Amino acid sequence: MRVLSGIQPTGRFHWGNFFGAIRQYIDLQHANEGYYFIADLHALTTVRDPQILRQNVRDAALDLLALGLDPAKATLFVQSHVPEVSELSWLLMTGTPMGLLERCHAYKEKKERGIKADAGLFTYPVLMAADILAYDSDMVPVGADQIQHIEVCRDLAGSFNHAYGETFVLPKAKVLEESAKVPGTDGQKMSKSYDNTLPLFGDTKAIRKQIMRITTDSRPMEDPKDPEGDHLFDLLRLVGSQADIDAMAETYRRGGFGYGEVKKAVAAASEEYFAAARQRRAELEQDVDYVDQVLRQGAEKARGKAADVLARAQRACGLR
Ligand code: TYM
Repeated sequence: MRVLSGIQPTGRFHWGNFFGAIRQYIDLQHANEGYYFIADLHALTTVRDPQILRQNVRDAALDLLALGLDPAKATLFVQSHVPEVSELSWLLMTGTPMGLLERCHAYKEKKERGIKADAGLFTYPVLMAADILAYDSDMVPVGADQIQHIEVCRDLAGSFNHAYGETFVLPKAKVLEESAKVPGTDGQKMSKSYDNTLPLFGDTKAIRKQIMRITTDSRPMEDPKDPEGDHLFDLLRLVGSQADIDAMAETYRRGGFGYGEVKKAVAAASEEYFAAARQRRAELEQDVDYVDQVLRQGAEKARGKAADVLARAQRACGLR
């Protein structure tokens, strides 16, 4: 099975990125052919500072490698290093109904929040469709917020195939039920644009502080509480051992505890959970050449595949 996914270098990766998506990349790399990329072209819709973008791309590569993406098993590359994808995006664009893009929630949400929309943001799902189709991807591991975009991709591929004959493979989204929508520190979906993220790497003290500031309700301490549907408990479930989770669930049901206790458990468990990756990241930081080499080789391999698919699509629609 060919598996592909992308992630935007718009800032440091957070728990939502990891538990919703990156964890899947790592699990799936063993038994599948994996293509994973850093979506710098997509990031251009929000990051307008070249130095920051460059730094973010490097950080993203370091993070992914430190978390366990293995270049011997999967192909890791930067989206813009494969220009074939942008060409393919144009071919798809000519068959994309405006209404389809107007309904896409990422665009709709940003517009509703008063963020000025440009054509890049509006056509973002078409580039994403090209990303997926360029590698004949069968499966796309993502968080729930990307499902709609994968549906758009299927729609565009289906209508291209209908117009020009079988050209593209129709992909399927793969979402983990228990972490499809990881909550942020305020209980809403964790997202950089809501400023409610818990980063994977960075100063542990600062992260601990962020965890201690997770919002909770103001019910009295002695009230028994239900761990189900409680975002603090949901975060513990992601990083805690089964023993931690069972003990805390029991405490919730009994009542008579402060949320501070749970937050401390979340902080301790997360430090342990990411300790090995932190260590690996510190080592990789010393070997920038290795990281560059991984990205260069990744792009070479990805380009080979994308060029074949682009040529197939060009032939189908009469460009060759
Ligand atoms: P991005 O960069 O916003 O997010 C990267 C991945 O993290 C997942 N994710 C979450 N999962 C669960 N809970 C959360 N709170 C949470 N926040 C983020 C996202 O679902 C995603 O899987 N458009 C994509 C990037 C992209 C792409 C692609 C993905 C470009 N081309 C082709 C797949 C295939 C995006 O903005 O992801």
